[in-house]
Amino acid sequence: MNTQGDLIILNTRVVTPTGTQAACGDKMKHLTVIDNAVIIITAGRIVYVGSAEDIDLQQTSLNSHTRLDAHGGVSLPGFIDSHTHLIFGGFRPDEFEWRLKGESYMSIMERGGGIQSTVNATRSEHPETLITKSKWFLDRMIEMGVTTVEAKSGYGLDFDSELKMLQVINQLRYSEHRKLDVVSTFLGAHAVSEEFKGRPSEYIDHIIEVMLPAFKDLADNCDIFCEKNVFEIEDSRKLLLAARKLGYKIKLHADEIVTLGGAELAAELGALSADHLLHVSTEGIKQMAEAGVVATLLPLTAFALREPYAPARSFIEAGGAVALATDLNPGSCFSGSIPLTIALACIYMNMSIEETITALTLNGAAAIGQADSKGSLEIGKYGDVAILASDNYHILPYYVGMNCVRTTVHHGRIVAQNP
Ligand code: NIG
Ligand code: FE
Repeated sequence: MNTQGDLIILNTRVVTPTGTQAACGDKMKHLTVIDNAVIIITAGRIVYVGSAEDIDLQQTSLNSHTRLDAHGGVSLPGFIDSHTHLIFGGFRPDEFEWRLKGESYMSIMERGGGIQSTVNATRSEHPETLITKSKWFLDRMIEMGVTTVEAKSGYGLDFDSELKMLQVINQLRYSEHRKLDVVSTFLGAHAVSEEFKGRPSEYIDHIIEVMLPAFKDLADNCDIFCEKNVFEIEDSRKLLLAARKLGYKIKLHADEIVTLGGAELAAELGALSADHLLHVSTEGIKQMAEAGVVATLLPLTAFALREPYAPARSFIEAGGAVALATDLNPGSCFSGSIPLTIALACIYMNMSIEETITALTLNGAAAIGQADSKGSLEIGKYGDVAILASDNYHILPYYVGMNCVRTTVHHGRIVAQNP
């Protein structure tokens, strides 16, 4: 395996969005295609991407670069999974079965299951066990072409356990940094903890006073489950304003179960993203598009909860930016499948293949505030590439739920090579 971060990808077809910010509305479908292309990555960054005819590959400065023949396969920017709950104790297959029999996600949560049951399991789990478990998922993600993953805390809900989760995320960030990038999000407001049961506002005050200031160096973003009977609009606004003041970038789980106005709040606060949005209002869509807040849509969750899919077309037609992510978690969506995300987005959300590519690359990067350095194959950006086993990117949704990434490159290093 190459460890230098100096790589030449030969004999490829480059397919990429372009730019250093989210692609909005109509622009989401615009991809640049370069046939018979070469990508040169030096010290982890792209220094050339273009036609093979316009570059002299014999020049001495390229002598020590590893050469990778893509056999005509498509090179896409590495996928960015901008919303996951990667770290968790235990599993919840029993709940999945209850839902199959008709019980709702919220009713399981209200009787003490759901997030609370993972909180109990996570609190008692040793950090090393959490790390080992997460690495298994990370390796699967890398095989699917993921080069950056966001990971949330939120199964601790008290100081020590949230700290433990954030430390685990940061340990992964440093131990796995040669394979993929891990972005850290503090989600202490994922549910009202047992200790503050029935007193969500007091729990929010506790987070603001005790946790937010202490965790600033461990988390890039602050997120909240803004939902009826969890944290409603006033509490969400209060927490996110306090987080923003401390320098966190802010994100919301918004309008997932009912229409509550989370999208409008995201627009008002200029959040990086509002996520889920299965029940977003028309006004919320408009306000998010106007404010430039990325709509991160999570079709695997809608699929697993048998909920209607989020209105991707309405966001795009309103001039908004849509990102796609997996929402991998042990409850509402136990899947980190990029191929199935793509298929569901095309089949049920009526997104074009080009739009899904933009949503999983450039707009995913924007949803974590990194579109200036990731999300497209352009000079100066990181050499993060997902190379397909085909010269035709249209096969992505056609291979329903099946992986057609052959090679994953992270910062110019080959990190996965599928047979
Ligand atoms: O994004 N809705 C809140 N959080 C997660 C589910 C977490 C869980 O069920 O454990 C979500 O769907
Ligand atoms: Fe989530």
